[in-house]
Amino acid sequence: METSIDIKEDIKRKIFIADLISEYITLKKKGTRFWGLCPFHTEKSPSFTVTPEKEMFYCFGCHKHGDIFTFVMEIEKVSFPEALKILAQKANIPLTFEFNKEKESEKELLLDLYDRLSMSFHHLLLHSKNAVHARSYLLKRGINADTIEAFRLGYAPGSRDWLLNFLKKKNYSKEFITASGLFSQKSGELIPYFYNRIIFPIKNTRGQAIAYGGRSLVEGGPKYINSPETVIFKKGNNLFNLDLALKSGKDTKFIYLVEGYMDVIALYQAGIHNAVAPLGTAFTETQCRLLKRYADKVVLLFDGDPAGEAASIKAIEICEALDVESEVVDIPDGQDPDDILQKHGEKGLKKILKCRINSFGYLLKRGFLKFDKETPKGKEEIFNFIFPYLKKIDSQIKRDGYLSELADKLNVDYNSVRKDFENLSRSATIYQKESVKKQKASDKISEELFLMLAITANRDLFPKVRCDLSLDNLDDPNAREVFIALEESYREGTTSLEELTQRIEDKELAALIAKKNTSGEYTYNPEKLISDGVLRIKCRLLRKKREEIAVLIRKYEKNEPWKMKDLLVEKMILDKELKEIRKNHDV
Ligand code: UTP
Ligand code: MN
Repeated sequence: METSIDIKEDIKRKIFIADLISEYITLKKKGTRFWGLCPFHTEKSPSFTVTPEKEMFYCFGCHKHGDIFTFVMEIEKVSFPEALKILAQKANIPLTFEFNKEKESEKELLLDLYDRLSMSFHHLLLHSKNAVHARSYLLKRGINADTIEAFRLGYAPGSRDWLLNFLKKKNYSKEFITASGLFSQKSGELIPYFYNRIIFPIKNTRGQAIAYGGRSLVEGGPKYINSPETVIFKKGNNLFNLDLALKSGKDTKFIYLVEGYMDVIALYQAGIHNAVAPLGTAFTETQCRLLKRYADKVVLLFDGDPAGEAASIKAIEICEALDVESEVVDIPDGQDPDDILQKHGEKGLKKILKCRINSFGYLLKRGFLKFDKETPKGKEEIFNFIFPYLKKIDSQIKRDGYLSELADKLNVDYNSVRKDFENLSRSATIYQKESVKKQKASDKISEELFLMLAITANRDLFPKVRCDLSLDNLDDPNAREVFIALEESYREGTTSLEELTQRIEDKELAALIAKKNTSGEYTYNPEKLISDGVLRIKCRLLRKKREEIAVLIRKYEKNEPWKMKDLLVEKMILDKELKEIRKNHDV
């Protein structure tokens, strides 16, 4: 690209490297250089430098280096021509030459399509007479016109032919349409992912639409469908609303992480614009790294239910492992931010947001609710509950601080807590190694994994199972991984085995699924096979719950007998449930 040399120089003259990089990370000037945390690898103290004089950046940690073009290519994960285009735009320099390599034009074309389509969906939502129910749905949920505009919410028409016809009219090729991420293929036929759904455009940090989330307007079927990955969209690398959050959050320095699209929107309506959500999957490490670039702190705001609690704990651990400070807004039981906004209005929501606790405090609170801190066994359980988090903490000083706080709260000697921490760390490392070995052998299939494998061979039975069981009912990491893959496929409305195994990172596990599906196991009376499996797990949970209640009863028996009444009733109900299951089933 010879013509570009002059343009490169022109652009470099207009864009100062330190200004550009400051849009992504915080830089501090020391001498002739600027220093900051490297956006390309995880680090705790700055080793990333920018030298304006030489117009280059260099990281002493990972040795990445280059000029403004390399920087944009790396950070935005784009090719040189795209970086050139982004920077030319910033510098207000028109590009006069063509650099349309095939690949680039495909990405460009797709970005252009998503952009246009967002506009069309948006227009339909606002004006189509077939979208009356969609409009009244949003109205009913209290979403106002400004919000619809800000997120460019849309409506995908109910007719399954609409989208294909729309695209055909625009002369897109068959291959392009197939790879667009807008259709699934069933025996050669293209079926749109999105029809009769409210559309939530998912945008990159530059505000370009790169995918959609679609909410169903009818009962039954997956509530949300999310675009599959395409050349312009990688789920784990993006977050819903990051573009607006960055615009608003520059000075707040923290970002709210919520569970879903509607939570982001509820906060937006309450005037809080710096909230983001993962895209139909759990919060990932890559997403955390992304947030780390822009914010000093992540404030978790998950639903006040067991799933929300499990998700918070997982997110806390991810943040800690990447040394990102996190806090939690502990939402009252069974509610999500949207519920709170509906019930208590903007003021109520804002009031709750003020009650943030640091993540350690949150874990302590949860641990104390789950276990009895008065008994030695309960103390141990609380310690075990918090251990995975403590183990992620890199700073000894910080960890020591928490260990001594924990010792205080449990009313035990600090040295014992510390020793237990060391012992458990050692055995956890050994255990990890062993369990990896065990997983690899994949010859011993747990009850939970057996159930999940049976479901992979009988996908039509999954919708029922996901109503009866949730992820946190499963302990076996392999079973959990399969469950997540099943859930994601289900949410995207896909049922092919190939597509399912692609979601499984563990190669052995993926191979096991393929093997079991080929062998024809699990085909005899699968309904019973699966419902028995579910019942067995449920029984185990009920027993565990009963055990916990028994512990509480023993605790209250002595000093606070009046607290026992509810517990006894609960235990009776559990006993009855268990008996009922045992009577009807052979489990
Ligand atoms: P929620 O069920 O909490 O959805 O799932 P929500 O955003 O609060 O929406 P409403 O209020 O019920 O309408 C949280 C997130 O999980 C993903 C979506 O990203 C959703 O926003 N999800 C949920 C799916 O991808 N598919 C589903 O079927 C359900
Ligand atoms: Mn929700």
